[in-house]
Amino acid sequence: MHCSWKAVILLALASIAIQYTAIRTFTAKPFQICPVPSPTNCGLGPDAEPFDRTCEEGPYFAYNASRKTHILVLATTRSGSSFVGQLFNQHSDVFYLFEPLYHVQTALIPRLSHSKNVAERRVMLGASRDLLRSLYDCDLYFLESYIKPQPVNHTTDKLFRRGASRALCSPPVCDAFGPGEANAEEGDCVKKCASLNMTLAADSCRERRHVAIKIVRVPEIGDLRALVEDPRLNLKVVQLVRDPRGILSSRIETFRDTYRLWRIWRATGRKPYNLDLSQLTVVCEDFLNSVSTGLSRPHWLKGKYMLVRYEDLARNPLRKTKEIYEFLGMSMDQNVVRWIQTNTRGSKELSAKHKYGTVRDSAANAESWRLKLSFEMVDYTQNVCQQVLRQLGYKAVKSSDELKNMSLTLIQDRTFVPFL
Ligand SMILES: *[C@@H]1O[C@H](CO)[C@@H](O)[C@H](O)[C@H]1NC(C)=O
Ligand SMILES: *[C@@H]1O[C@H](CO)[C@@H](O)[C@H](O)[C@H]1NC(C)=O
Ligand SMILES: *[C@@H]1O[C@H](CO)[C@@H](O)[C@H](O)[C@H]1NC(C)=O
Ligand SMILES: *[C@@H]1O[C@H](CO)[C@@H](O)[C@H](O)[C@H]1NC(C)=O
Repeated sequence: MHCSWKAVILLALASIAIQYTAIRTFTAKPFQICPVPSPTNCGLGPDAEPFDRTCEEGPYFAYNASRKTHILVLATTRSGSSFVGQLFNQHSDVFYLFEPLYHVQTALIPRLSHSKNVAERRVMLGASRDLLRSLYDCDLYFLESYIKPQPVNHTTDKLFRRGASRALCSPPVCDAFGPGEANAEEGDCVKKCASLNMTLAADSCRERRHVAIKIVRVPEIGDLRALVEDPRLNLKVVQLVRDPRGILSSRIETFRDTYRLWRIWRATGRKPYNLDLSQLTVVCEDFLNSVSTGLSRPHWLKGKYMLVRYEDLARNPLRKTKEIYEFLGMSMDQNVVRWIQTNTRGSKELSAKHKYGTVRDSAANAESWRLKLSFEMVDYTQNVCQQVLRQLGYKAVKSSDELKNMSLTLIQDRTFVPFL
């Protein structure tokens, strides 16, 4: 019994490897690895290799010429990443994609949402990096290999959260909305725009100066090193973190099936013996690894990494957003300012129809977990995540009274200066 179970896993792994190789080999053009011009390979001396010609004509110089900014929002689910994504999506010169790695995961690891298996993880990361590289190059055809069913004639209606990208809901990609309706609801976009023409989407990407991609499926910044160091990219990583207690609470509300046992704990006051603790510990481990790397300022992250606490953004959206744009070296256009004004606290129009209504009182929302989790659950989280809470400046509570006393702030003032 045990043996056959192992065999199944092995088979599954083998098939993943084969699928991955097949995808890399037979679809879309591979993204070349070009030599980097540097004093060591710059043709000094007779033995030096001549600089590769195909690469010389390749994307390295194309990027340099326009010098796009490639923004990566590195986040985890329920950490406020949709909000941060909007800060870029609303910019008129940004082509934004909402979690394209969803397709990589569903194609390669259909059943497991949080695979701890090293081999699977490596396959998924390798594929993710390749895809991100291509997307920053506006090569959207590359994504097609992962979309099920595979697009025909470069057209699909299966792109994950297409409606979350303004660029994919407006001309030239979709003509269904007038200029005044640029902020159409996600569902309206999917309903009114015809199938997505990937050729037009790629055109739209090329027309815009910058590309921003939000991902929640890469565990930590170290996994992105190859991309960060890729000289063809001008990658800037905005890592979003949030109090793990807040993440847990929000996931319990949102992912009702997967977090069912946590709800039972909350309702009964008793921790189920078969609770999947990794649903919490993985978040804390990933944050700890990632933030430790980021804050230790390794040379490869110089000028390329900014750590943002969701709570700081929620308390002061406009100011924090300005800091983010400064770090990116981009100007923040009026659309972004307007979006923040209408969708966060301080907004005058309190119409209920706005989709981001929950974000409006963002500061209160960021801390609402305190009223939703039991003290036992919070206490437990504080033990498991002790180190990362301290590192990020989130205070532990010692009693239920402290937990529920909202005038007692749990967020220590910290400035995480971007490493420039
Ligand atoms: C590359 O970018 C640098 C800095 O922006 C610029 O000085 C240089 O001329 C560019 N090179 C090419 C080939 O575009
Ligand atoms: C794809 O394009 C070809 C040539 O234009 C056409 O014959 C075919 O019907 C198209 N397929 C679909 C599914 O639209
Ligand atoms: C997608 O757009 C391109 C560029 O306009 C066009 O040539 C192509 O026919 C379109 N594809 C479909 C299936 O409509
Ligand atoms: C709540 O916290 C505030 C600030 O620390 C404190 O002054 C107040 O006494 C606390 N209220 C209760 C009911 O414990």
